[in-house]
Amino acid sequence: MQSDQTSPNLSRREFVAATAAAGLLSMAGSLGFAKDTLAAEAFAMPPLPYPDNALEPVISANTISFHYSKHTKLYYDNTNKILETKPMAGMTLEKVFLEAAKDAAAMALFNNAAQAWNHTFYWNGLKAGGGGEPKGKLAEMIHESFGGLENCLKALTEAAVTQFGSGWAWLAVEGGKLAAVKTGNAGNPMTNGQKPLLAIDVWEHAYYLDYQNRRADYVKAVLEKLVNWEFAAKNLEA
Ligand SMILES: [Fe+2]
Repeated sequence: MQSDQTSPNLSRREFVAATAAAGLLSMAGSLGFAKDTLAAEAFAMPPLPYPDNALEPVISANTISFHYSKHTKLYYDNTNKILETKPMAGMTLEKVFLEAAKDAAAMALFNNAAQAWNHTFYWNGLKAGGGGEPKGKLAEMIHESFGGLENCLKALTEAAVTQFGSGWAWLAVEGGKLAAVKTGNAGNPMTNGQKPLLAIDVWEHAYYLDYQNRRADYVKAVLEKLVNWEFAAKNLEA
């Protein structure tokens, strides 16, 4: 089942609502079945907010197809599979991974639920014809926190390129200021009390088909041509 509640300009609040709604839709869809066939709760993977080829030539349709239909889908499927035996009814996907992060025995749930969330956040933080300059309060905070957009992009690039192995680079709010942070594997800034505004996936599956080992080229192209500043601005206000 897929939710139709996402859009290219999905804000973090709308994103949370969409992922929660997806779970509720799945629950509603299970009503009417015999009690023993009821699914506890399932999160539906939101649709991509653009066609597979929309981000070319920066990210190929081939990469998007595998990354969304295989990798992202597997994280949702695994999350739902684990939740069948560990019901966390009524929780948003965000709440599920934040709760799982507190429990060392729930590492598989954390990894899959956080990756499902991170990927949907990443897809919505990209758009065809992105890049350019942020506006409004986001632009002001970038100036205050980094001394300008160029320094902000440098900091994000540094975080993305220096993340050792798989992980993520993020623009996040910490203590009222913006920061470029990185997390390993399925990590998410929210587990450190930071509020994510944008994500760059630096797992090899995000760029290897198009850029092979040249992660820095992928990051540069994403920041210059795809990054969705309107999505970041909405998250700042959320
Ligand atoms: Fe990924």
